[in-house]
Amino acid sequence: MKIIMLGAPGAGKGTQADRIAAKHGIPHIATGDIFRSNIKEGTELGQQAKKYMDQGLLVPDEVTINMVLDRIQKDDCKDGYVLDGFPRTIPQAESLGKALQERGQKIDFALNVDVPDENIVKRMGGRRACINCGATYHTQFAPPKKDGICDKCGSELVLRDDDKPETVQKRLSVYHEQTKPLIGYYEQIGILATVDGTQEMDQVFNSIETILG
Ligand code: AP5
Ligand code: MG
Repeated sequence: MKIIMLGAPGAGKGTQADRIAAKHGIPHIATGDIFRSNIKEGTELGQQAKKYMDQGLLVPDEVTINMVLDRIQKDDCKDGYVLDGFPRTIPQAESLGKALQERGQKIDFALNVDVPDENIVKRMGGRRACINCGATYHTQFAPPKKDGICDKCGSELVLRDDDKPETVQKRLSVYHEQTKPLIGYYEQIGILATVDGTQEMDQVFNSIETILG
């Protein structure tokens, strides 16, 4: 099963993609996580991406598209994957569609996690991310067992650099301009499904499971 997660920054794409991946035994491929781990390792890709991410802007398509097309060729992707944060522009969606078509493959579902902007800003301020494994928590809605420590790997939890309120606003406006048009794009292809992302996390997951069947 090949799934794309659509939705505003902070809509819960990562939270739900993680659950889908665990339930269906497929990899969760998050472009934001790949960039953040490259930043942490100080690679050239990381240095390039950081310039854009810190401003709430998108990393250029030339960089992002090849990175994802390479990743989905790997062995662990043969039974499918959940793409989280990609595609994010129409050219990214077109490149993905073309690459899959050449391989005789297609995306099965584009899941749009729908959350209004007002809810987003509140969520981002409370989000904490693990500096080591990228696992995501929320001080109020999904707290770790031990304050400030990752349940999964025991490393420190921090506020992401791009979760400062002014950067969140920029990311939201970039989302509306460049990413939201993908909803219409996938609706036209006939694979779009929208879930109400303002529900509790478990309910959002139940709605998704109903769609995936
Ligand atoms: P990325 O890491 O993808 O960030 P994003 O899209 O802004 O999304 P987030 O990760 O912030 O939110 P999410 O939807 O995953 O929500 P989460 O589950 O964490 O990208 C970062 C940057 O990388 C971009 O700005 C760009 O620069 C670059 N980039 C990445 N991909 C790119 C691409 N394809 N092209 C170009 N550039 C790219 O949830 C948020 C919080 O809410 C958490 O604390 C969570 O616990 C909580 N929460 C989740 N669900 C619920 C719920 N139902 N109720 C209450 N709280 C909830
Ligand atoms: Mg995420």
